[in-house]
Amino acid sequence: MEHFNRRNGTLFAQSYACSRLAEDFGTPLFVYSREALESAWQSFADALEKHPHLICYAVKANSNLAVLDVLARLGSGFDIVSGGELKRVLAAGGEPEKIVFSGVGKSRAELTEALEVGIRCFNIESEAELDRLAEIAEAMGVVAPISIRVNPDVDAQTHPYISTGLKENKFGISMEDAPAVYKKADGLDAIDVQGMDCHIGSQLTSINPYKDALQRLISLVDALAKEGIELSHLDVGGGQGICYEDETPLDIAEWAKCVIDAIGERKLEIIVEPGRYIAGPAGVLLTRVEYIKRNGDKNFAVVDAAMNDLIRPALYSAWQSIEPVEPGNAPEQEYDVVGPICESSDFLGKNRTLAIEQGDVLAVMSAGAYSFVMSSNYNTRARAAEVMVSGDDAYIVREREDVESLFASESLLP
Ligand code: LLP
Repeated sequence: MEHFNRRNGTLFAQSYACSRLAEDFGTPLFVYSREALESAWQSFADALEKHPHLICYAVKANSNLAVLDVLARLGSGFDIVSGGELKRVLAAGGEPEKIVFSGVGKSRAELTEALEVGIRCFNIESEAELDRLAEIAEAMGVVAPISIRVNPDVDAQTHPYISTGLKENKFGISMEDAPAVYKKADGLDAIDVQGMDCHIGSQLTSINPYKDALQRLISLVDALAKEGIELSHLDVGGGQGICYEDETPLDIAEWAKCVIDAIGERKLEIIVEPGRYIAGPAGVLLTRVEYIKRNGDKNFAVVDAAMNDLIRPALYSAWQSIEPVEPGNAPEQEYDVVGPICESSDFLGKNRTLAIEQGDVLAVMSAGAYSFVMSSNYNTRARAAEVMVSGDDAYIVREREDVESLFASESLLP
């Protein structure tokens, strides 16, 4: 069963009518399906079952503690990019030895904290970061496990803002420079060279960029082995695409086969860092129509969610389906669905044909990933509440922010 499904025209989140959730918890509201999270995670576990592997959910996609908790209970590992995400994972019961740490700008404090808790691996993105980590580990009298993030210079064929594997991106170390950095790392006492890492971009719906990247990575793995540097894992990053409009989601079994085939007989554990694939389809954003208005030839549905709640349409021209949660009798018209924020880029969708009227609740679909986590308080708007549906129950997993808290740490001049 689809975790978000229609019965007699009414949208349900598992066994909850979305209209009831909007009534009980207010709008704007993010609703997550526990079962959807679990089944997406399980598709990686099933596909990689026969090969040693570790699934490290990319926390940045949705870092709500309840989401992390659901995945930690399945035995998931986590890919983090900040000390803040490290604290969240630990608070949700994630195991330190299943955490990998990505990101180009890890601070001294972040590296120290991660060494203290004993994470599984640091994904090193520059020689300067390697030097810093080695210095801190040495001073602490510990050995830091690392992989080096290689930038394979492949075109992920996705939006330029979410492409990360091209030479001109800030990520990783180039194929040309990587061998020298590996050699240096291998010679450092406080560093244990364990793996190779890459992440070429997000929302990939074709397997080809993965194939290209893997081919390059594996040739580097072999070249290093000849130099006596034997790696024990290959971290292939995340990026698996989902359906927002009419895309075919990446086939996880096919993707896994491609990785396993590329590895062949080599003794490499697979680490994968999926974010969107696990969290994206597992969430919707519910929002209520405040006003219907017409300007010139255009109809606008002004809703109570805005670009501060969901910035993907404004930032990446992302298209996400917008659907009324109940079938209505209003005439069908074309609308721009916009928020209350004072910016023309404040829209959730443009030119959508909808049969709606004032007061209706709409669902923005596939809003479980890169949605709440990218929200802000622009226009002094309190951030939305988050609810998780689990079995027949719905739990509030983040209270709606109250406006006073937004300026509680500010002060007037004496
Ligand atoms: N690993 C690393 C090192 C990453 O940088 C990312 C995402 C992931 C894993 C997870 O990628 P995923 O499986 O979710 O594609 N805000 C953008 C997406 C930014 C992705 C950043 N990195 C969006 O809303 O489309």
